[in-house]
Amino acid sequence: MPKPTIKRFGILTSGGDCPGLNAAIRGVAKAASSTYGMEVIGISNGYRGLIYGDARELSAADFSNILTQGGTILGSSREKPFKDRYDPALTDAEAGQDKPELIKETIDRLGLDAIVAIGGNGTNTTAHLLSKEGIKVIGLPKTIDNDIWGTDVSFGFHSAVDIAATSIDRLHSTANSHNRIMVIELMGHKAGWLSLYAGVAAGGDVILLPEIPYDPKEVAKDLELRRAAGKLFSIVVVAEGAMTVAEAAMPKKERKRLREEASYPTIGYRVAAEIEKDTGMETRLTVLGYLQRGGTPIPYDRVLATAFGTSAAEMLARGQFGRMVAMRDSHVASVPLSEVAGRTRTVPIDHHLVETARLVGTSFGDGR
Ligand code: F6P
Repeated sequence: MPKPTIKRFGILTSGGDCPGLNAAIRGVAKAASSTYGMEVIGISNGYRGLIYGDARELSAADFSNILTQGGTILGSSREKPFKDRYDPALTDAEAGQDKPELIKETIDRLGLDAIVAIGGNGTNTTAHLLSKEGIKVIGLPKTIDNDIWGTDVSFGFHSAVDIAATSIDRLHSTANSHNRIMVIELMGHKAGWLSLYAGVAAGGDVILLPEIPYDPKEVAKDLELRRAAGKLFSIVVVAEGAMTVAEAAMPKKERKRLREEASYPTIGYRVAAEIEKDTGMETRLTVLGYLQRGGTPIPYDRVLATAFGTSAAEMLARGQFGRMVAMRDSHVASVPLSEVAGRTRTVPIDHHLVETARLVGTSFGDGR
């Protein structure tokens, strides 16, 4: 066992929550305190707690009995201290106070030797920037979107797939009873992982992903072909970041403008309207929303979060900073935060699961 290089560290959860955050906190804290004798300081509400000095020492009772608990005992926020850098409320100075400087002051005041930041792309990008400022940071990948560069999987993702697939299963029976088209919109931000996995797991007939722009006419054609073959209902899984071929070809600003003009609340509404208009088939929409982020993690995510957490504790002990814990080829490893920062891991269009889906007759609305 390595003699720990540090004595006291802060731990925070930042960005959108997901199942498994508490399991990860427990993994880090248990290994760090009982195995390496470190002191664990819980930072409240992500980087916001570091800026404003909202923190408390955690004892064994805090991280006991939280393995299966959803959410995060530390709270979370989408605070990006390097993006919205100055807080005018804190000072009379015209520019406002510099948040990264406030973070350094908090770290000094609390006597923290290092920070463990659990989060997604934004969190790990901030972790990298803090690392460049000389702070010892270790990142841990969590997100239902599974879009963090450098790791094959993030915890939280498979729990969300489970929730989404179970929801689609439930749509099947009601779709069947009413001979309807059921559109279900899933989260995933700019990546289609969640829709791809849940769509394949639950037998979605059409899956629309941001990475494979769709043509509404092709979607309509495929649904009509199914109906002609005697399948009187269909399930259409839409990732929140999905876009048409025409949209993919235009600048982001133009796409945003046209969407605002069309004024559908989300992409799912538009897809449902397109289908009803193009096919005349009765269509209903479900936007699954935050249900995908709530509740207890499935056992796979508990195991993954625990393994990532204990690995972070070992890295703290060994003094391996400026890195994010990662899953690489079925092994827990780590990657430099500099490689992770500012990047997004999207679905490669030739991903084996895309091919698998095509082989069982799933349409991606791209005419293939
Ligand atoms: O990153 C997780 C996620 O749930 C995305 O899938 C979604 O786009 C976003 O967060 C929603 O963010 P917010 O919690 O800020 O509404």
